[in-house]
Amino acid sequence: MARFHDLTVTDVHKTIRDAVVVTLQPDTPEDFDFIPGQYLTFKRDFDGTELRRNYSICAGKDDGVLQIGIKRVDGGTFSSWANADLQVGDTLQAMEPTGTFHTPIEPDKAKAYVGFAGGSGITPVLSILKTVLKREPDSHFTLVYANRGVNSIMFREELEDLKNTYMGRFNVIHILESDAQEIDLFTGRIDAAKLTTLFDKWIDIADVDTAYICGPEPMMLTIRDSLRQHGLTDDQIKFELFGADQPGRAKTPAAIKADARAVGAEASIILDGTARSVHVDKGQTILEAALANDMDAPFACRAGVCSTCKCKVLEGEVDMRANHALEDYEVEQGYVLSCQSVPVTDKVVVEYE
Ligand code: FES
Repeated sequence: MARFHDLTVTDVHKTIRDAVVVTLQPDTPEDFDFIPGQYLTFKRDFDGTELRRNYSICAGKDDGVLQIGIKRVDGGTFSSWANADLQVGDTLQAMEPTGTFHTPIEPDKAKAYVGFAGGSGITPVLSILKTVLKREPDSHFTLVYANRGVNSIMFREELEDLKNTYMGRFNVIHILESDAQEIDLFTGRIDAAKLTTLFDKWIDIADVDTAYICGPEPMMLTIRDSLRQHGLTDDQIKFELFGADQPGRAKTPAAIKADARAVGAEASIILDGTARSVHVDKGQTILEAALANDMDAPFACRAGVCSTCKCKVLEGEVDMRANHALEDYEVEQGYVLSCQSVPVTDKVVVEYE
């Protein structure tokens, strides 16, 4: 099964000094009919090592282009290469759009959205807000966008243009860590106290239908907790996390528990409708076992963040070391992240869908 498709780079431009917006023309456009909020998983070989990275689509549904934003991460091989060397005419390889960071667009409804983005977390939120403003003419969107300073605001001009185009329906509040602003509240880091003042004076959370959060993990968790305290239910809060749990981080209690219960197992792994029996060593993940047996199992982050490696447990039991991607209802239905799942029964059957 061809999971990766070729895409030609048709434009590359800087949105800030260390971030590029890349326009792509897929060889098979029908495979890239995305839902705003989704991302693409890219793979590229760097000196004999294959790297996979996820980048969110930043184009709105009606922009007529497929665009992603890539911010350079310190020491990030893929993002540094894309910012320095990627050129028009190059070919990239990516999987079809995926991700669950979205809610249905309902043109007949008048909804109130609030989006929280930190740094490059703006990319999926931008795609969503552009589509909402265009396709839900009676809906409103407030964006709270956190950055270090003015110079690190991705899409600053585009956001200003949207404000002018959708006056009265779109509002953006920039929170800048190190650049002073006229209103003190908008300077510094987002924390619980700042959010409480924001919700008292600037954003009426009681009116909000859906909140989107995308950014660094600590900021996201603070915002989610505050939204809950101000009355939003988990169904109303969508969040997307990138880059958590890098190697070298201390193990979480869930990971320690999973590893303590792990056993060696015989696994039947169903991929593209075909079952293969493989041995999973004690402490090895389902994904590691599949890849060790040359199975073309899907994956990207290997950190429990993206859900690319999602599969369903049909028999037996596994423990997940981390889960930053699956919703509770998916876990209840038996879905797991295979990059984080170690068997805890001596026989398991899993299926990639
Ligand atoms: Fe990203 Fe498993 S590969 S969650």
